[in-house]
Amino acid sequence: MSGCVITITSGKGGVGKSTTTANLAVGLAMLGKKVVAVDFDIGLRNLDMILGLENRIVYDIVNVMEGECNLSQALINDKKTKNLYFLPASQSKDKNILDKQKVASLIQRLKEEFEIILLDSPAGIEGGFEHAIFLADRALIISTPEVSSVRDADRVIGIIDAKSQKAQNGEEVIKHLIINRLKPEMVEKGEMIGVEDILNILAIPLIGIVPEDEKIVSSTNTGEPVIYGDSLSAKAYQNIAKRVLGEEVPYLDLKVKKGFFGRLFK
Ligand SMILES: Nc1ncnc2c1ncn2[C@@H]1O[C@H](COP(=O)(O)OP(=O)(O)OP(=O)(O)O)[C@@H](O)[C@H]1O
Ligand SMILES: [Mg+2]
Repeated sequence: MSGCVITITSGKGGVGKSTTTANLAVGLAMLGKKVVAVDFDIGLRNLDMILGLENRIVYDIVNVMEGECNLSQALINDKKTKNLYFLPASQSKDKNILDKQKVASLIQRLKEEFEIILLDSPAGIEGGFEHAIFLADRALIISTPEVSSVRDADRVIGIIDAKSQKAQNGEEVIKHLIINRLKPEMVEKGEMIGVEDILNILAIPLIGIVPEDEKIVSSTNTGEPVIYGDSLSAKAYQNIAKRVLGEEVPYLDLKVKKGFFGRLFK
């Protein structure tokens, strides 16, 4: 097997990378893919909490790379969704511990075992971020409808196109945009930039829009990813998982007033 490495990244912190990683990992596994979600946020892990797997961590990614345990000892298999595996970040180590060679050999081993490898990138554009984008085949760039978030996403797209291994070999990392925490009523009032404006600025194809949803906060607290439910954000993630696999799925109608998304997508 040679799995596909998909990096979830953003530049700006706190815009929903880990939430997206967790929900897509579940969504893709439910669609029958053998998936591993890897937490690259060394020192600040929280993908484990969103997935509800924090109590099952024994070893982490740094232990594997340092040869302190086998890969299979560190991988956690989700009990609810059998195709889903999780490789935790270490909590205690410094983020600068990652070594390019060791990361590469770990990813290579994951590619042999999994169809999809999701890498949850840390905030910022240094250290763990560079490791997370270097070996990406695809990237999902997360932005909220705020100017600072869009600007950082733009910067990250440029870095992926300059510094990834694919870019260095003259190939392209396939990039898609996810707009998270959209509040249609605020866009209507002109308090947030709209989907069309963001697409014009970033010039990469859209793969999903996730609305602001308080269920996302409560699901993080209970450790059950929101995608298992039937809220709007759950449907949005289910649709993104299908689109990641190449299926054409119509966009949800998120409008609160007349024709908001109708105007955008017609
Ligand atoms: N669509 C949404 N609606 C409501 N809350 C959300 C949404 N998406 C994310 N959040 C909340 O925003 C916070 C940040 O999300 P998350 O941890 O996924 O971001 P991140 O990009 O991984 O952050 P970091 O850069 O620190 O790793 C969390 O409290 C999460 O519950
Ligand atoms: Mg995160």
